[in-house]
Amino acid sequence: MSENFRKDYLDLNAFRGLGEDPAYTLPQLVDRPRAWPLSRWAEAPRDLGFNDFLNCQWKGLRLLKDPETQSAYHNLLWELRPRTIIELGIYSGASLVWFRDLTRLMGIDCKVIGFDKNLTRNRIPASEMDNITLIEGDCNDLSTLEPLLAHADQPVLLIDDAHWNTFNVMSWATTRLLKPGDYFIIEDMIQFWDRYSPKLLAEYLASFDGVLEMDMLYANTCPQLQRGVFRRSGVEQQGA
Ligand SMILES: C[S@@+](CC[C@H](N)C(=O)[O-])C[C@H]1O[C@@H](n2cnc3c(N)ncnc32)[C@H](O)[C@@H]1O
Repeated sequence: MSENFRKDYLDLNAFRGLGEDPAYTLPQLVDRPRAWPLSRWAEAPRDLGFNDFLNCQWKGLRLLKDPETQSAYHNLLWELRPRTIIELGIYSGASLVWFRDLTRLMGIDCKVIGFDKNLTRNRIPASEMDNITLIEGDCNDLSTLEPLLAHADQPVLLIDDAHWNTFNVMSWATTRLLKPGDYFIIEDMIQFWDRYSPKLLAEYLASFDGVLEMDMLYANTCPQLQRGVFRRSGVEQQGA
């Protein structure tokens, strides 16, 4: 056994989609000066020099939505004008503050609800909690989702960014919470599931036929939302 071996290695799956630290810090450039001399302008590197996803942030809180995803949500919020945004999985809480601020800027009267089984990573300062409610619960226990019902004014935008028990959560949501025209979004996972379990994924999605439909205006806008933007069926929409 090498003396460099550790006694206990953490399971890196635990960080999938998370990163190791909910706090945002300014990117550090290790291989180049930040102030590049213009006399050497032509030689300057053409890449960023840091992992831009780990450095997405809102008001100093790490936001796990990249710029393309932010742009897609921007358009969806403007069109849907949700009265309630529920996000399953909050991490630092940045996305809740971002959704609250963005809808406010757009003049949309919208409350934002965050649901997570581990609220200890939440970094939203008390001064930024206006119109944001946090609920502790576990997607693996559907009964813990029930308190969300008390908050759901239509139209609802429900985002699964927790990635556990997703299809049972989707079934619960379509039965208990979502009304025609509301949205259910699966972030990040569709491309992985499509790679590793394409048959089951297609089968599971097909079981929601007639209840949910994929919104092709947003479903291919960015990798994080790719083919994971679903709308509760039942009302005609513009351009349908
Ligand atoms: C990808 S992060 C959320 C990122 C955040 N929505 C954003 O855009 O910045 C996933 C979150 O899901 C939470 N989570 C994991 N398993 C869960 C479960 N079974 N029920 C509820 N939340 C869970 C984790 O604690 C973590 O905060």
